[in-house]
Amino acid sequence: MRYILLLIVGISAATFLAGCKAGGDNPGKEYAPNMYHSVAYEPLSQITDKDAGTWVNALDNGRGEYYNSNEYNPFKINLRLPASNTVRRNAHGWLPYRGTNDTTGLRLASKIVSPLEATPALLAQGKSLFEINCKHCHGAKGAGDGKVADKYPGVANLTGDAIKGVTEGHIFHVITYGKGLMGAHGSQVSEEERWKIARYVKELQK
Ligand code: HEC
Repeated sequence: MRYILLLIVGISAATFLAGCKAGGDNPGKEYAPNMYHSVAYEPLSQITDKDAGTWVNALDNGRGEYYNSNEYNPFKINLRLPASNTVRRNAHGWLPYRGTNDTTGLRLASKIVSPLEATPALLAQGKSLFEINCKHCHGAKGAGDGKVADKYPGVANLTGDAIKGVTEGHIFHVITYGKGLMGAHGSQVSEEERWKIARYVKELQK
């Protein structure tokens, strides 16, 4: 008899608790919800429904406990917008390249040393980026004999004497803005990728 009673109590408890489980559209039940719903503004969450959480209200301003929007910001978002003219840095902390698209810009660029360390992994990445972005014109070995060069005369031989001496910074600048007959590639490859390609071009020139 005792076992049957225990079984019944056990099954009812399990069924009761299973009802709390979240799933599908059911958010489940929360124990002590004010522990989950921050009173402070949460930058990446925004609850705009003023009635959300009125059923657990401990506030006397009439708003729901979960309401979490900043009335003073545009769209009531909780994150502040960045100040105007804010410039985004990349993952390395670099500011965008601001060398100018002219001969002075090119001359100054040639003095810039690559910020990336030349590791075998970096060279391998440079190689695959070169094959995606440059090989069709400049050829696999940079000799100016890519498939496009058949139809598009004037593609430079990157291993020729005229270009052999250029620095990585020079190549970086040429990829960014193009030069002469070559178009700009700055919008296709990121700064980091450009430095990797430039490194690989120097390797091809060896
Ligand atoms: C659509 C074809 C084409 C593509 C794609 C291309 N280039 Fe070029 N590139 C040229 C041509 C044409 C020239 C010669 C420009 C001139 O002297 O007028 C050139 C010249 C160059 C030069 C020599 C610049 C100098 O100082 O004279 C470098 C370095 C160079 N390219 C690197 C690259 C790299 C790296 C890539 C890949 C990101 C690339 N190119 C993609 C066509 C291309």
